[in-house]
Amino acid sequence: MNWKDDYKKKVSKPIDAIKDIRDGQCVVMGHAAAAPRMTMQALADHCEDFFDVLIYHMTTLGDNPCYDPRCYGHFRHVSNFLSANSREVVERREGDFFPAYFKDVPSMIGGDIPCDVAVFQVTPPNEEGYCSLGVSCDYAKAAIHSAKTVIVETNEQMPFTYGDTMVHVSQVDHIIPCSYPLQELNLPAPGEVELAIGRNCASLVADGSTLQLGIGAIPDAVLQSLTDKNDLGIHSEMFSNGVMELMKKGVITGRRKTLHRGKAVVTFIMGSRELYDFVDHNSDVEFFPVDYVNSPLIIAKNDRMISINSCLEVDLQGQVASETIGMRQYSGIGGQVDFIRGASLAREGKAIIAMPSTAAGGKISRIKPFLAEGAAVSTSRNDVDYIVTEYGIARLKGRTLQHRAEDLIRIAHPDFRPALAEEYERRFHCPYQE
Ligand code: COA
Repeated sequence: MNWKDDYKKKVSKPIDAIKDIRDGQCVVMGHAAAAPRMTMQALADHCEDFFDVLIYHMTTLGDNPCYDPRCYGHFRHVSNFLSANSREVVERREGDFFPAYFKDVPSMIGGDIPCDVAVFQVTPPNEEGYCSLGVSCDYAKAAIHSAKTVIVETNEQMPFTYGDTMVHVSQVDHIIPCSYPLQELNLPAPGEVELAIGRNCASLVADGSTLQLGIGAIPDAVLQSLTDKNDLGIHSEMFSNGVMELMKKGVITGRRKTLHRGKAVVTFIMGSRELYDFVDHNSDVEFFPVDYVNSPLIIAKNDRMISINSCLEVDLQGQVASETIGMRQYSGIGGQVDFIRGASLAREGKAIIAMPSTAAGGKISRIKPFLAEGAAVSTSRNDVDYIVTEYGIARLKGRTLQHRAEDLIRIAHPDFRPALAEEYERRFHCPYQE
């Protein structure tokens, strides 16, 4: 059948498309800026029609009407990466978190993550009937292949992106034509601390390096300190506006990349409308599924690979907690460890964890004798490489426990160094020397 006839037959209203979702089924949804907002709203508006439907997705950008307490019992939520609103749902016990590397999600879909229905936001089809997955490629194809029912919202405001992003009209069951703005992520301008961290990180970045930028305020702020570098490249789970700025300035060219030369490779982006317009029909940026982008063996093919991620606390052995504050699940592991391992395997690679030395307005040191009770270790002491704060750089790889503690105390905030030094002396039975 001609794809245009097929398309016409599949055009649905959200209220009709969701009738295919049965009680007790699992719905896998697009996430971040590509969350299917029309379907989410229809589900929330008609939640009484559903019982015990499990909804899986990654991070949530903006409101999710299905998180409304009114929907509890009708929907349960599971995610391996929390954000402000899904954190609340988990704390209310109306949803739960499961620990998993982001790269493993595509292979879990259809197995450990059941997938009866897949719901994604895509572009309207091109002349050949292909829609693009736009700003989020990640686990969409795995879900679309595995689901019994596929619902897509063809949003006119979704940028058409390249890489491995094409989904044909023939692969879907319901098409919801629509036009609504994508959720934006606008990071605050970096302050003095972030800029100092950025300068320290920049000293580790050689011309021709390929970068991964993790989630949070720091990785994007680091980019502002890289304006005098040449021919940087991108191979990253995600990126935000900072990458666009450096591509426009000609700092990021990808010219010296050893994999996907000339292309910025990513699995999803979150940023401003300007960023979304920048990637629209832009062949310099390629989106691939997360199991490819975050695979340590693929990452390692990038010579001079540098991963830059952030964390919540580090103990004196170099154990890194990036996703929990004590027992409280704050975010998720994402691709942090995969990029650290990939960068460590790469020729001339470096893995950086960058963080402000303190949290909570300076009241808490992020460098601690012990991680908070209940904290999950995200990056183990065996994987950790560089730790960077506004006070300097500690290279932990290959260092003994005693040397690690010394190096970490030196980059802690001066107000907390005496207490850390006391612990050092207790632990190593020798005086701590500045
Ligand atoms: N103890 C108590 N509170 C702490 C804390 C600590 N050790 N560390 C941070 N906090 C508080 C902060 O003060 C802040 O509180 P506020 O919101 O009230 O200001 C909040 O926790 C968030 O901390 P912050 O460092 O500002 O978070 P961020 O948005 O920059 O994100 C991570 C940092 C670590 C949470 C984020 O990078 C992450 O989730 N990493 C894991 C996943 C990852 O690295 N993926 C990489 C591939 S995408």
